[in-house]
Amino acid sequence: MASVIELLAKGVRFLHSKNIERPKCDAEWLFAHVLSCSRLELYLRYGAAVGASDEAHLRELLVRRARREPLQYILGEVDFCDVKLAVDPRVLIPRGETEMLVEWLVAYIRGRDWGNFAAGGASNYRCNILDLGTGSGAIAIALAKYFPASRIFATDKSPFALAVAQKNAERNGVRNVKLLESDWYDVFGGGVCQEKFDIIVANPPYLTPQELADARDEVRKYEPISALIAGDGGLRDIEIILRGARNFLKKGGLVALETGITHPRQLRKKYKNFFNKTEIMRDLNQFDRFFVAYV
Ligand SMILES: C[S@@+](CC[C@H](N)C(=O)[O-])C[C@H]1O[C@@H](n2cnc3c(N)ncnc32)[C@H](O)[C@@H]1O
Repeated sequence: MASVIELLAKGVRFLHSKNIERPKCDAEWLFAHVLSCSRLELYLRYGAAVGASDEAHLRELLVRRARREPLQYILGEVDFCDVKLAVDPRVLIPRGETEMLVEWLVAYIRGRDWGNFAAGGASNYRCNILDLGTGSGAIAIALAKYFPASRIFATDKSPFALAVAQKNAERNGVRNVKLLESDWYDVFGGGVCQEKFDIIVANPPYLTPQELADARDEVRKYEPISALIAGDGGLRDIEIILRGARNFLKKGGLVALETGITHPRQLRKKYKNFFNKTEIMRDLNQFDRFFVAYV
């Protein structure tokens, strides 16, 4: 039987030979997953023998990764802000950029007096939030954890995505997220739910077909196309959300969107007179990535 360190070195070489971007890191995650330990522990038990069934399982997962299946789908979960989320090909893998959007919202909410903030800290912030196109539930569940006294509605057109979001809400023990199947605002317009929100947030599909064709195999071959592509140069869904926001926001509310990097400037020009104020924010790579509009 081969040892952990021997098999790990072999696994790294294999992924490297298949041009996987971070072969060592990915191999470590897969080994830690199969051997039920942390990545650090792999090196603490480097001499231990790996059993035949674990070795076969490792081989299978390395082959899946070599075929460009995203690491997060293979592991079946991802860390997002302070929560752990189950992910599979029914949902987009939540991105670091979206974590930035959540962090910005958390700071914004904490910086405001919502009128009903009492002693006791962040758990008393009560605002009404709508997360459109929730996918795995990432934004809604992360915000629900930060603000357990808030009411959060999360919608998606895909019942398959909503099933994953439901599982994630349960897994993270959040009780203040209501999941609804809806084409953007439709469920609210039909009289089912007469809600007005302090905050509308979304990371809608915003890639053009060409951008998707140019994307990494991990994205192009495995992530749900309905989560990625939008017509009109990637702006179709973004604009539906922006135009609808005025009907569903309370006075003083805001809509915060993650967008493609060319979108915020176009949106600022086009919606200058539609909203009271607009704002563009950059991601960690200094690309214009977020568009915020206030009513
Ligand atoms: C880019 S993913 C974002 C998922 C999640 N919010 C995140 O940030 O990881 C876009 C989501 O919008 C959903 N979606 C696409 N078209 C929609 C529509 N017309 N109405 C509601 N949701 C839609 C997709 O199913 C997908 O879950």
